[in-house]
Amino acid sequence: MSTILETPRLLLRQFVIEDAPAIFRVNSDPEVVRYAEGVVPASVDETLGHLRNGPLADYARYGFGRWAVVEKSTDELIGMCGPKFLAELGEVEIGYRLARDRWSRGLATEAATAALNYARDDLALDHLIALIMEDNTASIRVAEKLGMTPAGTILFEGAEVLRYEITLSDGSASR
Ligand SMILES: CC(C)(COP(=O)(O)OP(=O)(O)OC[C@H]1O[C@@H](n2cnc3c(N)ncnc32)[C@H](O)[C@@H]1OP(=O)(O)O)[C@@H](O)C(=O)NCCC(=O)NCCS
Repeated sequence: MSTILETPRLLLRQFVIEDAPAIFRVNSDPEVVRYAEGVVPASVDETLGHLRNGPLADYARYGFGRWAVVEKSTDELIGMCGPKFLAELGEVEIGYRLARDRWSRGLATEAATAALNYARDDLALDHLIALIMEDNTASIRVAEKLGMTPAGTILFEGAEVLRYEITLSDGSASR
């Protein structure tokens, strides 16, 4: 399993099918999926299907996708973070999700900052967006800390969500 990115506390690497039980545990918390799918996965098998049709398919199709976030101090898979190409919009969204017992330690910002820099420096993307539900205050705060700015609302997959964006080509992203 090759590391894509390393930060002081985290490793970001591609998901593999063996990660299904660990990501199932993260997503089994209703608070973690509250602003995304809304419902917890029914089984490890269902999570495996999501991994195959989501990140693993994205790596094959686009060369990047959401990555596994591994805590260096415990070697535990604690969530996901990374850029995802949204074919519906023709744009790349940065996403982040962590197990609840890891919240509010700056870890999502740490992972997403590294992912954002990778999107600029390695993928040569000129901008990124984030789609966030209006009452997801923690996620909005992370987007702000990344230097993203609000750009109205957008109807995405049947829900009205906030659109945040950042231009990467003008040196505005943090290093
Ligand atoms: C969003 C999420 C990834 C943030 O992870 P995290 O590691 O706690 O994020 P950070 O610690 O880097 O930053 C969180 C910021 O939000 C703030 N915050 C957290 N909960 C908050 C709340 N309920 N109200 C206001 N601010 C809040 C924190 O204080 C912190 O800001 P600060 O550094 O200015 O103090 C995490 O809450 C999560 O996994 N949520 C469920 C999945 C999700 O909603 N993902 C985003 C989908 S768009």
